[in-house]
Order: sequence, then C-alpha cells, then structure tokens
Amino acid sequence: MEYGNQEIAEAANVLKKRLETLEDKRSILRAPELSALYDRLKTLPAGKQRADFGKQVNALKQELEQLAKDDDESRTEDLSPIDVTAPFDVNAPAGDKLPKLPADNGSIHPINQEITEVLDIFYRMGFYAEASREIDDDYHMFTSLNFPPDHPARDDYDTFMTEEGLIAPAHTSTMQNRVMKKYKKDLEDGKGIRVVIPGRVFRNEDLDARHEHTFYQLEGVYVDEGINAGNLVATIKAWLSTYFHKDVKIKIQPFYFPFTEPSFEFAASCPFCEEKGCNVCSYTGWIELGGCGMIHPNVLKEAGIDPARYTGFAWGFGIDRLVMLKYDIEDVRHFQSGNLKFLRQF
Ligand code: DAH
Repeated sequence: MEYGNQEIAEAANVLKKRLETLEDKRSILRAPELSALYDRLKTLPAGKQRADFGKQVNALKQELEQLAKDDDESRTEDLSPIDVTAPFDVNAPAGDKLPKLPADNGSIHPINQEITEVLDIFYRMGFYAEASREIDDDYHMFTSLNFPPDHPARDDYDTFMTEEGLIAPAHTSTMQNRVMKKYKKDLEDGKGIRVVIPGRVFRNEDLDARHEHTFYQLEGVYVDEGINAGNLVATIKAWLSTYFHKDVKIKIQPFYFPFTEPSFEFAASCPFCEEKGCNVCSYTGWIELGGCGMIHPNVLKEAGIDPARYTGFAWGFGIDRLVMLKYDIEDVRHFQSGNLKFLRQF
C-alpha cells in the first residue's frame, strides 16, 4: 500500500520493519508511532486535508492488523496435530477447520436449581449446609431418632434395604445425629447449631402423579439455649417469605413424629392466591409443606447434648412439591424421568 502523506509513509515503513521482529505481532497496533499519527490528526483543521490524513492513518492501521493476522494463521500451518485421533486438526488455520459439531447443551435440573436458591436463603440466615447420604444404617434411620425397636412408627418409613442391612434413607432426618455431633462445639462457643441438609430420599411407594419412590427433602436443625416453638415458626416463616417474595403466613397443627415433642405439620398460606383458593392449593388457601417440631430430649441426648440446658427445633420438607407448585408441574414422576423435553424447559 502506498501512502501519499509522507509522514504516514515513513511511519508505515518503520512499523512494517518492526513487525517482522516482533514475537507478539498484534502489539504493533499499540506502537507509539501509530498513536502519534492519531494525535496529529486531532490537531489538523477540519476539512479535506484532515479527512485525507484520517483515511490514510486508518488504512495503515488496517494494513498492520491484516499483516499480524496473516502471520498468526501461517504460523499454525506447520504445527503437527496434538491429537492424531481427533476428528479434525485443532491446530489447522481457521479456514481449514471443519464446522463445529452440533452441540446438545444440557441444563441444570429444576430440583437442583431450587436447592441452590433455598440454600442461598439459609446461608444469609447464618446456616451451614451439609450433604445427606444416600445409603445409611438402622442406627441413623431409626435408633438415633428415638424409634424404639419394632415400634409401628417405623412402618411410615418403609424403604429399600440391602441384604447386609444397609438402608436407602427414607428421610433426611438420618443426618440429625451426625450434624448435632459435628457442630456440638458451636454450642460450647455460644454460637448454637444451625444446619440445613438437602438430600435425596427413598420410599417404597405406589407410584402416581403425587408419589415417587425417589424424591428430595430439606432438613433443618437448630439447637441453642432457650429455643422454643416460636423460633421454629418464625424461622420457617422468614425463609418461605423470602422464597416466595411475599409475606406468607405459617400454620402448624399437631402431629406425631418419634423424634420431636411436640410435633407438628406445617403449612404456608398459598402465595399464588392470597388464601382465596386456587387450583395450586386445591382451593384450601393453604399448602402443606412438611413436618417439624421441638427436638426430642432423647435425640439430643443421643448426640451428647444436655437436654436440660439446650433445646432445639427441626423440620423436614419436600423440595419436589415446592418445585411443582412454583412451575405448575402436574406429575412428580417427570423429575426422575430423564425426559429431555421436560428438562429443557428449565
Ligand atoms: N422426617 C420427617 C418425614 O420425612 C419430616 C420431619 C418431621 C423432619 C419433623 C423433622 C422433624 O426434622 O422435626 O416425614
């Protein structure tokens, strides 16, 4: 390329020569000579002379860019392929590469998305999160939770068992004893135990649109001095209100669990209809979410915590149900189906 303006022609000569010696060819675009030309352009009076000068400086910049790019491509030509079994040579110059293979991108499962969102709320409330286990034993499933041997309450948690007696946990409460032991020293430090445990649980169920053999729960455990059922209700209310971006009400009613005393079932006011009744809440204005209660003294004792000094609450709720409500999903079995048409919607 010929440059009519002498100043630009001279700079072009210098820069092209320097380009040959540079390792990083594109750095020529930051050469002081080039920016000096742009500075000079600004000082010229508006009019034909300035327009002409501007065109030539731009042309020089483009020429240098092209030269740097040509060099980049030619440099890859003599490299041998890194992996001779690859479907095409990844080192080849851009023009010789085969088009990209079509990609089937995955998406995050809606249950996992929801767990992340719920955990974020609890982190902000000062809770730790622990992963639950997918294989457990009789001690954690029943004994540590105050189920006497052969007690009929065990029948509510009919699940799968291996021949060696290992158990696919029927609820995330199997983790209560473990987390209380793990965080017990927080009690001595005056901090209290606050842990949430998301996990996959298993039950021997007759399957239908509302029952699945594999589903997800989120367990919560809170122990400290002077904790009462009012703290339990306030905590559940706080996280559900944050989750639904609404001031939801909480209703508890008496229930029975061996590991809590007193025990409750809890329901939230329907965030979709403000208690007027809609198809999400089956026109009751309330949504049942799970079980909760004040941790039984025997359960605290079993974890080495003195029930005369400390009290606590725990809850367990179904995550699948929450996701079904949120996205208006009519059949719980979609979650485990692996059906891509379903999963790609999230
Ligand atoms: N584990 C119970 C279930 O799956 C739910 C539950 C009730 C968990 C009370 C708790 C609790 O932590 O305190 O049916």
